[in-house]
Amino acid sequence: MSSVSLTVNGKATTTSVDPSTPLVWLLREHLQLTGTKFGCGIAQCGACTVHVNGQATRSCVTPVSAVAGKSVTTIEGLSPDGSHKLQKAWVAEAVPQCGYCQSGQIMQAATLLAKNKKPTREQIVQHMNGNICRCGTYQRIVKAVQRAAKEA
Ligand code: FES
Ligand code: FES
Repeated sequence: MSSVSLTVNGKATTTSVDPSTPLVWLLREHLQLTGTKFGCGIAQCGACTVHVNGQATRSCVTPVSAVAGKSVTTIEGLSPDGSHKLQKAWVAEAVPQCGYCQSGQIMQAATLLAKNKKPTREQIVQHMNGNICRCGTYQRIVKAVQRAAKEA
């Protein structure tokens, strides 16, 4: 165990944890931020995607030691009240089915719009390519990102 300090959703946090612990478990078990999901555990599905210093990051394979001193944003911190343009577009397009993959999808999409306010369909598909949805909501995900981009 050692003490790890980082910023999570804008709040400075210090936790006593084994530094090799995957970030997803620090978030879910220590900080009760359960919006971030655990899927494959081997960086293959994207369910655990969060932002680390603004970059989409797979928290299942990111040890806590790698985020010491950094800024982590989870789905709970994307906007204070769930009103991020992507969250509103997700509702408008009724994207989720079971919902398990969706916070990872939104966090992945947010990093696209942060650097490219008007992505093409191809750019959206390419950017979202590594995020798996077992329910097959891919077409609605693309439509929701396009809708959010129109509101940018
Ligand atoms: S749980 Fe991290 S990529 Fe699947
Ligand atoms: S909505 Fe069920 S896995 Fe994506």
